[in-house]
Amino acid sequence: MKTIVFTGGSSLLAQSWIRQEQLHYNYILGLHKRQLDQKRFKTVVFDYDHPDQLSVQLQNVKADIVINCIGLTSVEACQENPKLAQKINVELSKNIALACAISKVKLVHISTDHLFDGTLPFANEETSKSPVNNYGKTKDEGEEVVLQTNADALLIRTNFFGWGPAYKASFSDQILKNLGNGITSKLFKDVYYTPISVVTLRDTIERLLQHNAKGVFNVTSNERISKYQFGVMLAIAFGYPAHLIAPISIDEMTDLTARPKDMSLSNHKLSVFLNASLPSIERQLEDLKEAKKIGQERMVIPYGRQDVSEKDIQSIVNVLRSDYITQGPTIQKFEQRVAEYCGVKHAYACNSATSALHIACLALGVKKGDLVWTSPISFVASSNCALYCNADVDFVDIDPKSYNMSPAALEKKLKEAKAKGRLPKVVIPVHLSGQSCEMDKIHSLSKEYGFKIIEDASHAIGATYKGKPVGNCSYSDIAVFSFHPVKIITTCEGGMCLTNDTELSNLLGRYRSHGITRQASEMSKAPDGPWYYEQLNLGLNYRMNDVQAALGLSQMDRLDEFIEKRRAIARRYDELLKDSIVATPKQHKDTNSSWHLYIIRLKDNTQITHQQLFEHFRAAGVLVNIHYIPIYRQPYYSALGFSKEGFIEAEKYYQEAVSIPIFPGLTMEEQEKVVALINKPMGYQNLF
Ligand SMILES: Cc1ncc(COP(=O)(O)O)c(C=O)c1O
Repeated sequence: MKTIVFTGGSSLLAQSWIRQEQLHYNYILGLHKRQLDQKRFKTVVFDYDHPDQLSVQLQNVKADIVINCIGLTSVEACQENPKLAQKINVELSKNIALACAISKVKLVHISTDHLFDGTLPFANEETSKSPVNNYGKTKDEGEEVVLQTNADALLIRTNFFGWGPAYKASFSDQILKNLGNGITSKLFKDVYYTPISVVTLRDTIERLLQHNAKGVFNVTSNERISKYQFGVMLAIAFGYPAHLIAPISIDEMTDLTARPKDMSLSNHKLSVFLNASLPSIERQLEDLKEAKKIGQERMVIPYGRQDVSEKDIQSIVNVLRSDYITQGPTIQKFEQRVAEYCGVKHAYACNSATSALHIACLALGVKKGDLVWTSPISFVASSNCALYCNADVDFVDIDPKSYNMSPAALEKKLKEAKAKGRLPKVVIPVHLSGQSCEMDKIHSLSKEYGFKIIEDASHAIGATYKGKPVGNCSYSDIAVFSFHPVKIITTCEGGMCLTNDTELSNLLGRYRSHGITRQASEMSKAPDGPWYYEQLNLGLNYRMNDVQAALGLSQMDRLDEFIEKRRAIARRYDELLKDSIVATPKQHKDTNSSWHLYIIRLKDNTQITHQQLFEHFRAAGVLVNIHYIPIYRQPYYSALGFSKEGFIEAEKYYQEAVSIPIFPGLTMEEQEKVVALINKPMGYQNLF
């Protein structure tokens, strides 16, 4: 993921840009004087006075792009304090442009529509500049020094509207505030411009960056309207009476510094360059309204959520329109894709991970009288798969740091089992939340005690262990992924078994599909004809279909992006929660998690209870969850004779753990809300 540094991180543009932003980029806010009361981004105090220092700082934070939002934007302030205007709008622009050139960081310099005398509409990038006041003059000079200093810079001339931060109301914020209070706003009927919403501006700049644009671009709407007309459109869009917007003439404001009457810019160059036209202002105002609604509606934040794109949907539609919708070619493509990603020989897509676990047990010959061990901190499917085969199950206590099956507890239990003469046939380590178990240790125990290994990697596609992808079966016989919607990638419901063993591969293929083979080499006799198949085992119909596989294949294109986003969210939680009442998840040095879950644990000395914390989240609309109730506590298992005896760590975990939201579409604002609930739990302040 690329890193964008905002110089002028507290500016209206930077703040409204990141407000609804999902994790497309890492953001770093360059601050100067204002101490932002928010912890959701890394903030850096940059040395804007010394380009050399600044370039080192940019390299240190691994900046890919700098968006320079620094500016003294008040026309009156620029007029009253020309030295300051010169320093901020010209000198700092030059220093930043130079630092970016030295450190080879792409610069986006935010300029203005205030560069012309306002006698002609729709100035284009070639129109010669004719500023009428000191603001315009210094911004003009700023542009020139940037162009001279940094040939690669992208200069954006714009005039935007959006939701500003609490400390800085935007033009539209002020009008809406007045409208909300029934106060009339007087707006110029004879000052024209081409305003653009921050969301459209942001998307457009991102596209310009993707096309490696440089030089000057007007990024404005197609329509030239007066400030008064804008106010009326805003009132209508938000359902307020338009009469609360009153027209006045700028000519009546004799004590104001001279301003251009027409600031409209032509976006012709932009439209041609991107081969696209920008949405109407009316449409952008709808988006502004929507952005507010999203902010309010997404009060409910789930712990996990699928991310299905238009491209994903299109790939499903394509399969639905094709000749094969059940067992067509897409399944194999999906299987091959996952196998290649993991570096494993064979992969079998199933209709769920539960099915995949079941056939994994069948392929390993698990049957009545056999014993299968797994982790108690898992979903019930991890042990049910053995019960389906009429085997017996037992659980191995967890490691207090990783919450995965403890190799030490496993070894102890194996010694005892050996003494009793009842060793497990199969052990199923579960990579909880996407962090791999210590597979090297479990693998060497399997050699010593002679058991087989199924990795329940339901949470872990995209994770690595000792630098290799989880699922490559270097330390196991079979590995299993889940593609349930809350998991890393989804096929709606779905799962997959992976193995390097040819024998097991054949068995998995058969058990998935009625126990039937179509391979002559496996048959008991020579085929009667091309239609011939044989049923060799009592198999099941656990197949995935092509429609699901199409979604899976398309999601595989996005797997690395999903993992990056999840890791970025986890890193941010780690940082934001490091001094809080909860312990953040510890990572073993050999693992790089896929972060299906982010599990916090209440620290020992906190006075709030687990239940209070859980209810507190839920009451605030944050749909946290507990992963998992120890399986031995389920009534079905109690009836089999299980109790909590002997599971000290699993029990302690169950009293403390909460899974907080993590999914690719989680916005920074939402993440901040989750963190705020932990750092300042309303209603429980007296307890801290
Ligand atoms: C650890 C684990 N194993 C197995 C499963 C079963 O997965 P599926 O829903 O794809 O059958 C889940 C699902 O939540 C799981 O979390």
